[in-house]
Amino acid sequence: MSASKPLPGSRPRLLNVGRIAPALLARLAQDYELTDLAGERDLAARLQGDAASFRALVTSAPVGVDAAMMAALPGLQVISSFGVGLDRIDLAAARERGIQVGYTPHVLDDCVADTAMGLVIDAARGLSAADRYVRAGRWPGGPFATMRKVSGARMGIVGMGRIGQQIAARAEGFRMEVRYHARQPVSRLPQAHEPSLHALARWADFLVLALPGGAATRHIVDAAVLDALGPEGFLVNIARGSVVDEDALVEALAEGRIAGAGLDVYQNEPRVPERLLQLDNVVLLPHVGSNTRETRAAMADLVVDNLRAFFERGQPVCSAEPPTL
Ligand code: 8YV
Repeated sequence: MSASKPLPGSRPRLLNVGRIAPALLARLAQDYELTDLAGERDLAARLQGDAASFRALVTSAPVGVDAAMMAALPGLQVISSFGVGLDRIDLAAARERGIQVGYTPHVLDDCVADTAMGLVIDAARGLSAADRYVRAGRWPGGPFATMRKVSGARMGIVGMGRIGQQIAARAEGFRMEVRYHARQPVSRLPQAHEPSLHALARWADFLVLALPGGAATRHIVDAAVLDALGPEGFLVNIARGSVVDEDALVEALAEGRIAGAGLDVYQNEPRVPERLLQLDNVVLLPHVGSNTRETRAAMADLVVDNLRAFFERGQPVCSAEPPTL
């Protein structure tokens, strides 16, 4: 879909509050009467008197939209979010108000799964640390530390949705044994379901987090889970910072109670705890799981298509469901 004929009737008013690329904003401005208030601190004040005429809102996964904002936009009919994570969108409030919510699943699975595997390899083999070693001129002083083999190791995946399954598919190529933890076993999957997260952590060499964020999964990985993973185990998080007790993780890394970690997400983005920056056994990425030109273009298309489908047929192409683990 995407590039196509004008929407029927007058151009609906659309408010953007998300962190989205200028090219997507420009596309939205073609079909909608666009107001861009991304990054605006006092939205309510900026909207005064004007709010009821907005029928559509665009946001991005890390920004979301809460119940108060929905209440401030009484004419709102549809939300289109740039991202797959729904943890910052109050879906219950949207349902109560009859607001449809579109988001961008599927199209980012590959890139997020690729990033997870990148973090697994980097954390285990120390690629980023080895790069720092070479650049610091330390190689002539002696060889780099001997690290941990990835191929054939045990991977425990927490959350076995679309992204978890793509990570498992990649791990097969590394001849890894994969088990997973989810609230319910996923039917027709060859990998074993492990009902206990602690047992999965004890078993795994690599514990990879691919579950939704939000209240239900907050700090699901705590000190006890990290201790179950143990001094030979690695944690990889491409999900949400909120699913890990970050203080406990910093302690476990600093004390060598786990071997290492690869992180794309944090509790308080874009702030990364100072103590993590000092540690060499953790790979730190700035939330780039979906950040390729190809995937971001596909996500942008879906943001546009979700809105268009709503205004043409009353429903986004990809409508949000409350997440499960
Ligand atoms: C963001 C993400 O969408 O999809 C998600 O839930 O976390 C990312 O892909 C991206 O950071 C854009 O804001």
